[in-house]
Amino acid sequence: MSRNTKGLLAVIAIIAIGASIYLFKNKTHSNKNTEPAKVAATPHWVIPDTGELANTGNAKLIKYGRSLIVNTSYYLGPKGVIASKSNGLNCQNCHLNAGTKFLGNNFSNVSTGYPRFKDRSGTVETIVKKVEDCFERSLNGKKIDSNGREMKAFAAYLEWIGKNVKKGSKPAGSGIEELPFLSRAADTAKGRMVYISKCKTCHGKNGEGLLNATGRAYTYPPLWGGHSYNIGASIYRLSKFAGYIKNNMPFGADYRNKQLTNEEAWDVAAFVNSQYHPFKDISADWPKLTTKPYDQPYGPYAEQLFSGRQHKYGPYSPIKKYYAALSKKK
Ligand code: HEC
Ligand code: HEC
Repeated sequence: MSRNTKGLLAVIAIIAIGASIYLFKNKTHSNKNTEPAKVAATPHWVIPDTGELANTGNAKLIKYGRSLIVNTSYYLGPKGVIASKSNGLNCQNCHLNAGTKFLGNNFSNVSTGYPRFKDRSGTVETIVKKVEDCFERSLNGKKIDSNGREMKAFAAYLEWIGKNVKKGSKPAGSGIEELPFLSRAADTAKGRMVYISKCKTCHGKNGEGLLNATGRAYTYPPLWGGHSYNIGASIYRLSKFAGYIKNNMPFGADYRNKQLTNEEAWDVAAFVNSQYHPFKDISADWPKLTTKPYDQPYGPYAEQLFSGRQHKYGPYSPIKKYYAALSKKK
């Protein structure tokens, strides 16, 4: 082989290797499970550590508040040691790591975000009102005493956990991710298949979850049925459910290690929320109908263009566009 041919072969080899790396990279990029996380260039949340709390003053109350978030059912569930107020879920079931997880429906915006006007109630809501709401909706139960030690502890923890967040700023990874819409309606039949292959082992054949040995709390919380959240809970809206599980389920997933495609997340959300959830009269929610979210499955609505079914399962883009145009007109 002449020197020239050798050189040429080397060049060809380099190009071939380069091309295959390029192709491989693109392949992994388009792979549904490795979409890069959308992390906004917003401030990082410096989460305070309970270990830093001295055992004085407010510290006890804050620590108690944290325990109530983590072990809500032990204290206040159907067999609660303090009172029986709620369905057996823990706040932490949906606000992971005591409400500190990145894109795990965390509490970074609570202490600076309340009191504030909320469209759902049409009133200015305090943290206390918000906690009461969670008991009546996500925990399908009753309000706890608004002046009792438990409520004070919830409020103290929620205030404290957000103490390093500046008012008006939104730390990266706060709350729940907003997933891009599907161009079709979410599909309960496809969602059932996702449920069977990726959720059933923990949450059960009938979404009933698994109680722990004490019977006071769940090892795996229920996803539907009489012990689950009611139809007035935010997670009953598909966008909240899908955004929550995308970065957090199956348990162990996080924003760097997602295990569901967007389609799977929307479809399994549709399946779970098509199953029975306890009823709550929510007819007084969103007194101003034009502020009702596009995916709120219960009417009345400000228009009659889209069916209740489309509000529940999508496709959402036309609904969202319609309401955006409506609010511009004013
Ligand atoms: C079944 C799931 C679920 C459970 C259980 C639950 N929540 Fe929530 N919570 C949500 C969802 C979903 C939202 C709405 C998040 C959003 O709109 O982005 C929310 C919102 C909140 C907010 C407002 C967050 C903000 O930034 O405005 C607070 C505070 C809160 N929950 C506290 C609690 C407390 C305290 C408990 C237990 C008593 C609890 N939650 C139980 C799902 C749940
Ligand atoms: C390996 C077990 C496991 C698997 C698999 C799993 N989960 Fe979970 N799930 C959990 C645990 C544990 C929690 C509560 C987390 C906590 O309290 O820290 C939870 C909480 C939840 C919650 C909020 C609480 C509630 O009961 O409403 C939802 C919603 C949820 N999972 C949906 C799903 C979906 C959908 C899938 C399938 C895509 C799934 N999970 C797969 C273990 C699992």
